[in-house]
Amino acid sequence: MGTPVDPVPEVIRRALADASDAPGYPLTAGTPALRAAIAAWVSRACGASVDSLGVLPTIGSKELVAWLPTLLGIGPGDVVVVPSIAYPTYEDGARLAGATVVRADSLTSVGPTSRVRLVWVNSPGNPTGRVLPAAHLKKVVDWARERGAVVASDECYLPLGWSAEPVSVLSPQVSGGSYAGVLAVHSLSKRSNLAGYRAGFVAGDPALVAELLKVRKHAGMIVPAPVQAAMVAALEDERHAEEQRERYRARREVLAAAFTGAGFTVEHSEAGLYLWLTRGEDCWDTVDWLARRGILVAAGIFYGPTAGQHVRVALTESDEHVAAVAGRLRA
Ligand SMILES: Cc1ncc(COP(=O)(O)O)c(C=O)c1O
Repeated sequence: MGTPVDPVPEVIRRALADASDAPGYPLTAGTPALRAAIAAWVSRACGASVDSLGVLPTIGSKELVAWLPTLLGIGPGDVVVVPSIAYPTYEDGARLAGATVVRADSLTSVGPTSRVRLVWVNSPGNPTGRVLPAAHLKKVVDWARERGAVVASDECYLPLGWSAEPVSVLSPQVSGGSYAGVLAVHSLSKRSNLAGYRAGFVAGDPALVAELLKVRKHAGMIVPAPVQAAMVAALEDERHAEEQRERYRARREVLAAAFTGAGFTVEHSEAGLYLWLTRGEDCWDTVDWLARRGILVAAGIFYGPTAGQHVRVALTESDEHVAAVAGRLRA
């Protein structure tokens, strides 16, 4: 269904343990070591320049997704645009702020008069595994800048490109070398198996990040000190991330072949942690058919009204369970 199952890498567990004597309040902005590690990682993974890049650790990325509209002062009368098939928390966050949600993949359908304050993009996408090309992301950024709206790009699956290379909103081909109005949201939950630690961060427009820091400081939205130390270790080590990626690659190959062999069509899924599947029938019939074989998947309809004939299969199962799924689909 989507929760990581492989062990937390030893290098990260050691860093957490070594930082466990932490009687004082941690820095909301992150320790200097963490801020430097985030900036260095963003530079490597997103091809971004660290000059005037704002960075801020978050308590996992879900809380930031849920509270971003509120933290930015978005409220009733404002519009938040979310992808037509999307991780539900974008809509939840807009509702928490009392804003209006518009589901759209193309901004031409949003209309010229609406008060759009925030546009969410998610590439590689959950649940579809779709990768948005740089030109598409650039169009979104240009459109938002013209209207003074913020683009928040949820990039928590960026390190998991399979048949397409995901591009960050912070890359110069998208941002044009300026971070004005853009925020990239990242997570260590999947890259480093740290969902249980709650470790994420946001990077981008330094003025927006400063505003987020100010509000989050007062609201007590602080990453615990041992987790900050663990994040430094995680960000500085690419070896464990590459090993984890290979585990997911192998599971993806087994699952894609097994579902295709059982008559499913794999759509998108060119990156990220999921296979987006259809049998051309109502998703609940598919969920039911699979459940009878002891296989649990997410119904597409959870992610948007146009996804009623799809199901989402996560790659986050042990090799043993993945092999069992393949066996049951063959039987
Ligand atoms: C698209 C997307 N964004 C954000 C998150 C939240 O991740 P976390 O809070 O663990 O960083 C998830 C989790 O599955 C997700 O799929």
